[in-house]
Amino acid sequence: MTSYQLDVLLTESDLRRALQEDVRAGFGAPPGRRTLPPKWFYDERGSKLFDEITRLPEYYPTRCERAILGARAGRIMELVAPSTLIELGSGTSEKTRLLLDAGRETVRTFTPFDVSESTLRSAAEDLSRRYPRLAVHAVAGDFERHLGHLALLHSPGGPAGSGQSAARPPGPWLLAFLGSTIGNFEPQRRRAFLGAVAAALSPGDWLLLGTDLVKDPARLVAAYDDGAGVTAEFNRNVLAVVNRELGGDADLDRWAHVARWDADQEWIEMRLRAQGRQTVNLFDLAMTVRFEDGEEVRTEISAKFRRPGVSAELAAAGFELREWWTDPAGDFGLSLSQRR
Ligand code: SAH
Ligand code: TRP
Repeated sequence: MTSYQLDVLLTESDLRRALQEDVRAGFGAPPGRRTLPPKWFYDERGSKLFDEITRLPEYYPTRCERAILGARAGRIMELVAPSTLIELGSGTSEKTRLLLDAGRETVRTFTPFDVSESTLRSAAEDLSRRYPRLAVHAVAGDFERHLGHLALLHSPGGPAGSGQSAARPPGPWLLAFLGSTIGNFEPQRRRAFLGAVAAALSPGDWLLLGTDLVKDPARLVAAYDDGAGVTAEFNRNVLAVVNRELGGDADLDRWAHVARWDADQEWIEMRLRAQGRQTVNLFDLAMTVRFEDGEEVRTEISAKFRRPGVSAELAAAGFELREWWTDPAGDFGLSLSQRR
């Protein structure tokens, strides 16, 4: 028998309301400045497509980060000896198993935290089967809104209604944020997010952060525009989500996937480009949006980093960089820092 605890902070109706607000604002902007926020990529189909992306030949970040974790998980767990491992944007938590394997002696609770409840459920199920002595306490929430919930993990009585009473065990927390998902925030939100992570932790706790590094733009663009077209399908899937959830009639075949390197900002921009002049009706919002031929909607940025920048941003948020590792080719960075 397997069991895990799941706190659902986002109900279906919360999600629909948030999507409505995002689409109203994002599509309501003037042509050329229209956006859709990235968390809506990850419905069941989007999460499966992302999982496929991680195995594409062009998409090196997952393989690089896995190689670093493979080489360093023992050192990380020895240095930190955490009682609790938290993972934000956990997805399948596949790479995280390297940390759980190395941390068998000390880690008692694992908290995967993701906006995609279906992905979280199958990951939590799988992990509780693989690690029968680990308490898997998953949180379905938005990491830009619900980090405060982490304070309830070990409060007397446990999270509301959980019936659990687990005092915080001795030993620090280790919070992992992998896959360079931090690059999907714009700089200002990134700062706010790191501040909120620091606030959710206590002095002495640790942050393990994966950051994709600046490199040859051709390789960067290829990682976000693969030959098999999986990333294109992933990008267009956000329109399928909008159609389904908001009664929309966007024609996915008339939107092209665009990935572009912005050398000034040092980020990849993902866009959807209208193929021909068209109208999208959003029945549930009583909204009609007209797009000119070639008009683009920005769906995602993926910022790329350099070590000094990562270190400075961590310091500004109250973390001290303790270790910095890359894969042998220097494509991807993994930092371990401690909350002051
Ligand atoms: N950590 C995994 C997955 C990265 S993909 C890896 O390294 O491969 C990004 C993950 O973050 C997805 O699982 C997505 O569902 C989740 N996510 C995106 N926006 C989120 C948000 N606002 N709150 C919580 N999770 C989010
Ligand atoms: N965090 C991942 C990244 O920035 C997410 C991602 C990979 C992604 N490929 C994508 C997001 C394509 C949107 C479109 O690498």
